[in-house]
Amino acid sequence: MLSLLLTFFEIRDTMSELLTPTSLDKKEDRVDASIITELPIADYQDRPAEELFERIVAAKKNLGNQVIVLGHNYQRDEVIVHADLRGDSLLLSKLAAERSEFPHVVFCGVHFMAETADILSRSNQTVILPDLNAGCSMADMAAIEQVDECWDSLSRIVSAEDVVTPVVYVNSAADLKAFCGEHGGITCTSSNAKAVMNWAWSRREKILFFPDEHLGRNVANKMGFPKDDMIVWDPFKANGGNTEAAIRKARLILWKGHCSVHQMFQPAHVDYFRKQYPGIQVIVHPECHENVVNKADLVGSTEFIIQTVSKAPAGTSWVVGTELNLVNRLKAEQTDKKVFFLSPMVCRCATMFRIDAPHLCWAMENLVQGQVVNHISVPDDEKVLAKIALERMMALS
Ligand code: 13P
Ligand code: SF4
Repeated sequence: MLSLLLTFFEIRDTMSELLTPTSLDKKEDRVDASIITELPIADYQDRPAEELFERIVAAKKNLGNQVIVLGHNYQRDEVIVHADLRGDSLLLSKLAAERSEFPHVVFCGVHFMAETADILSRSNQTVILPDLNAGCSMADMAAIEQVDECWDSLSRIVSAEDVVTPVVYVNSAADLKAFCGEHGGITCTSSNAKAVMNWAWSRREKILFFPDEHLGRNVANKMGFPKDDMIVWDPFKANGGNTEAAIRKARLILWKGHCSVHQMFQPAHVDYFRKQYPGIQVIVHPECHENVVNKADLVGSTEFIIQTVSKAPAGTSWVVGTELNLVNRLKAEQTDKKVFFLSPMVCRCATMFRIDAPHLCWAMENLVQGQVVNHISVPDDEKVLAKIALERMMALS
């Protein structure tokens, strides 16, 4: 059998001869499916960094316009260097919707981002997440059963369908986005949450905001929204831990969820840097606690942070409260400025970190030989509803 005789490289070279540069589908048609077997990830894990770099470059070249690699701003250097486009959640969602000419999207980010790309991309596109373990601890803090239960509880007390707009942060599973699509709701990202909340309140009196309580509260604070009109919904308590009277009065219901990375930043860290470096600018992500956000000079998405620090005058000093990979890269690139990391602890997103050069190389080389691995595919019924919520958001951004 050919498959037993050829080494991977021989197979790859043979395949690349068979393949035309413009149509992977054609390639798949022309290759005997029986010789395509998945390359094992174990073969990639102990390869030297330089070798992996070159193999990823070679695989991308081989695939040509069959693939686009998208990278979130938190990705490691060894991965982001291969991204055709990088950005924050909103930018990547837009790119996934726009770049329909690429049959394959390799998404270097976390699971919910790849799902969003799948929902927004065309049906003939496949979205690949190089490591399926790249989840998001915040997204896991709201399950559809809990949200359904919350909605039922709200409906017993107020007429939820008439008075509550569900707003889900994109850091959530596709079924939660679908829930919002079905119930007149909408998605948001860290860069458009204010516009989304204005939209939501213009339609119904109350917002149910999930799963990040901090983003919802920080945006509402910035809008001058009264604290007395906000409550927190704890999914593990009856009525979210609230009295019926409090639920009737509330106009913003914040799901008790948070980001395990951004919760590490503390107000004392801001005080320390202000004392050590008078005049320093403090810039943080809105997933931080309000006690940190209220002490910062600027608050915004990962892309906002990168753009703001990059465009700042030479000689300025910045301390940044967001994931460590992003801050280390800014530090290395912005050599005419001083850039510090806000926490003395290592605040790295462990799940974003799962995507590494071995997994990227594995996904790309499998693609070269016509094998789609880790295909992210949202069920059609969920996709239709989730798309409604995402498109409502896109129309505002
Ligand atoms: P951005 O939308 O700002 O990129 O944030 C995504 C995220 O997961 C932050 O923790
Ligand atoms: Fe999720 Fe936090 Fe990681 Fe962002 S940084 S992907 S919110 S765990």
